[in-house]
Amino acid sequence: MSDIDNKTSENIRASLNTKIFGKKILYFDTLESTNKLALAELETNNEAQNSSEGFVYITKIQTHGQGSYGNSWQSDSSLGLWSSIVVYSPYKHNPLTFVPAIAIACMLKDYGIESHLKWPNDVLVGNKKISGILCQAKQVEGSKFACVIGVGINVNHSIDNFSPELQNKAISMKMITGKEYNTLEIFKSYIEHFENVYLNSSNIIEEWKMRSKIIGSDITGKLNHESFEAKVLDITNDGYLKILRDGKIEILNSRTGFDIDTDYV
Ligand code: BTN
Repeated sequence: MSDIDNKTSENIRASLNTKIFGKKILYFDTLESTNKLALAELETNNEAQNSSEGFVYITKIQTHGQGSYGNSWQSDSSLGLWSSIVVYSPYKHNPLTFVPAIAIACMLKDYGIESHLKWPNDVLVGNKKISGILCQAKQVEGSKFACVIGVGINVNHSIDNFSPELQNKAISMKMITGKEYNTLEIFKSYIEHFENVYLNSSNIIEEWKMRSKIIGSDITGKLNHESFEAKVLDITNDGYLKILRDGKIEILNSRTGFDIDTDYV
């Protein structure tokens, strides 16, 4: 782990128009994982334990970026935005993961990029992933939980910056517009949208649904290495996926390890 770059942290902090999120910025050159550090600090650091809502961890490079379902997340270069925000329970929204997904879609739109949301928490352009979200909760005191919301956004990658197995699944902002971006400006736009959605959204499920193409579509699902066809009927009020499979309605929770091919788009 490298030291905190205090000057950059302070510059980012000073540039933000937010009240809660980003009240403290910790910016690094290299970390194993921003989620890992945020979770570790919730355990060991008194300041983080007592008042870290809104703390943000950002790094140029992650050596062990974590993805969902125990996968790794390719983030060993400074081509993307790798950051984590700490949020305390009681959370204003359920599921909390819809908040960063909507915020990322709004940020991309500000840069002229139309994206859509894939259940449970991916942001796609076409059928390729531009951003992934990893939320990890930790009990902090009594019945209070803190959730670390990690987002990875592919910003300045060219196709050959992705590993061969990702090349037909991943996309970056630069691959869409041909432009290079300052990742810290991307972060500023993302976190300002995040705070706006978190504080002001009155119906997170509807806002998520508006930005998704999945409802009504025929999907190929995968569970325990087995593939099956299904139709998506709806997203429930808890953010679960309601599908029709072999004539029967099923409600799927994202923790089951169920995954969906992106080919429905
Ligand atoms: C996914 O698999 O789609 C989730 C990817 C989440 C990646 C981000 S990058 C910043 C934060 N730190 C991590 O180790 N992972 C998340």
